[in-house]
Amino acid sequence: MTEVADVRVAAVGCGYWGPNVIRNLADVQGFDLRWICDANPARLQPVAARHPTARATTRIDDVLSDASVDAVYLGTPVSTHYDLASRVVAEGKHVLVEKPLATTVRDAEALTAAAAERGVVLMVGHTFVFSPPVRKVKQLIDSGQLGPIYYVETTRVNLGLFQKDVSVLWDLGPHDISILTYWLGEVPCQVSARGRSYLGETLEDVAFLTLEFPSGILAQLQISWLAPSKLRRTSIVGRQKMIVYDDLEPVEKVKIYDRGVDHEPASFGEFQLTYRSGDVLSPQVESTEPLYIECSHFLDCIRTGRQPDASPQSGIDVVRVIQAAERSLRQGGTPQQVLV
Ligand SMILES: NC(=O)c1ccc[n+]([C@@H]2O[C@H](COP(=O)([O-])OP(=O)(O)OC[C@H]3O[C@@H](n4cnc5c(N)ncnc54)[C@H](O)[C@@H]3O)[C@@H](O)[C@H]2O)c1
Repeated sequence: MTEVADVRVAAVGCGYWGPNVIRNLADVQGFDLRWICDANPARLQPVAARHPTARATTRIDDVLSDASVDAVYLGTPVSTHYDLASRVVAEGKHVLVEKPLATTVRDAEALTAAAAERGVVLMVGHTFVFSPPVRKVKQLIDSGQLGPIYYVETTRVNLGLFQKDVSVLWDLGPHDISILTYWLGEVPCQVSARGRSYLGETLEDVAFLTLEFPSGILAQLQISWLAPSKLRRTSIVGRQKMIVYDDLEPVEKVKIYDRGVDHEPASFGEFQLTYRSGDVLSPQVESTEPLYIECSHFLDCIRTGRQPDASPQSGIDVVRVIQAAERSLRQGGTPQQVLV
């Protein structure tokens, strides 16, 4: 059997989120973690100390100019994604960039085109697409057992963490938009959004979004950094069955409710509603950490050249929906088309 060389990877960004991904990059067999980088030495030092075989630097230029580095993870603030990812791609290195891919559709598309031209993998950190309960729900939807889906409702709220460079729309919005697009296999065509900045001056900390999909499915999203307790709960209402996915449940994260309402003919020309209330079932869901699956998938895409599940196109789609939501916010909630 021929030996496959390790993929030499560098990680940039050791703030709140980066260290979680760095731990998994170090764990996945086949990656050789070469560099850890953060512009802030106080953030860099503790993470570097946990990975003594990797070199530590405060200068991303050290990473970019190291010709032996094959791939880079970017866990830096949203406003830096486009510039830094473009520089990584220009060096001919593969890149896993955190969500959202960029802050404008134009930048997201330019980055996608640049990666295709250089022949490198560009993957977006849409972590939930790699989450076993989210994948289980996708299987359940695809199996058809829910029947036609009527609507979806999601709540993703907690106290903090306030981001300094983007609103809650750009911070938490990508999670639910990427999950819904993955589950339903379609991109919303219209969005309306209301929101408020209660604590800052401009960046909204609370937002309520209504998405409409081409199939007619509606989704209601509540996202907030200003809530009394952490909630991560989604209901999917189908004609035959309904699902509740609660990511905070320790074990039974997905529950299938055999419930519904049937609309049946009664006497001539009349209809009656019959309520069905059957079993509640919680399917087995594997417990592998989503970030481990995400990092393994990045490695697999680098080795095989396959298109990532969290593809550049899905990154563009998410940015497109958020831009439309932002337009709606500025116009007091007027529905906006998601421009293609
Ligand atoms: N996938 C997920 O589930 C998930 C969850 C949380 C955050 N995120 C994403 O992770 C990214 C980081 O978020 P965070 O909350 O960790 O932010 P953060 O501000 O806590 O950390 C960002 C770090 O990047 C460093 N940095 C900034 N510019 C740099 C540069 N040019 N070179 C080197 N280092 C630089 C900063 O010093 C900081 O330590 C964001 O894009 C966010 O959307 C993803």
